[in-house]
Amino acid sequence: MNSAYLSVSFRKFKFFLLAFFCIVSVMSFISLTHGAEQRPQTPKFSTDLSLAEIMESIVMPAAGVLWNAVSVDVTVDGVSTTEPETDEAWSQLRWSAVNLAAATNLLLIEGMPISNNPPPAQPPLGELTPDQTAALRKDNWQAWTAHVTVLHDVAMQAIKAIDAKDPNAISEVGGGIDAACEGCHKQFWYPEG
Ligand code: HEC
Repeated sequence: MNSAYLSVSFRKFKFFLLAFFCIVSVMSFISLTHGAEQRPQTPKFSTDLSLAEIMESIVMPAAGVLWNAVSVDVTVDGVSTTEPETDEAWSQLRWSAVNLAAATNLLLIEGMPISNNPPPAQPPLGELTPDQTAALRKDNWQAWTAHVTVLHDVAMQAIKAIDAKDPNAISEVGGGIDAACEGCHKQFWYPEG
């Protein structure tokens, strides 16, 4: 009596054990396949363009517009300030400041080649070759990102000054932008120059 009861409940137990394993395996299969769907591979930044191209095509033109936007002339007749005259001109100035601020994110792409041009036989005096700059950037990534942050912050200040339509502030920020460019160039482009 006792042993018959035991063997029945053991069979039941085996059944439950089997059912339990089936449920667990089905659930883990679903969670694995579902999880794979939910977590797609992190997309990679493209590294087709080089840092030199970003400098030449985005950073330099945007900074140039900001540098030329206002001018303060002191003459015997007094101080005359040139500034954007229309809303359209102010908007266009803002586009450049946004371009500059946004470009700083591109400078944080670690694998971006420094230049896609064939290396010159003789690099200009005092300038590092793109390979040397790339190695320096790799070894001093913290310093690199610090320069990028400085440029980002002054570009954001430029946006504020433009929104406030404050020519003096824009002119001051222009000096800050120049210092941000120079700071990075001195360390990573022409440390000997
Ligand atoms: C985080 C670092 C960094 C910052 C910030 C930076 N640059 Fe550069 N820039 C470089 C490096 C490195 C090179 C050298 C690229 C090479 O070897 O061809 C360069 C090259 C250039 C070039 C030459 C591009 C070419 O055609 O070879 C220009 C123009 C330039 N920068 C303008 C600027 C201006 C303007 C600013 C500021 C508004 C600025 N850069 C800010 C790192 C920086």
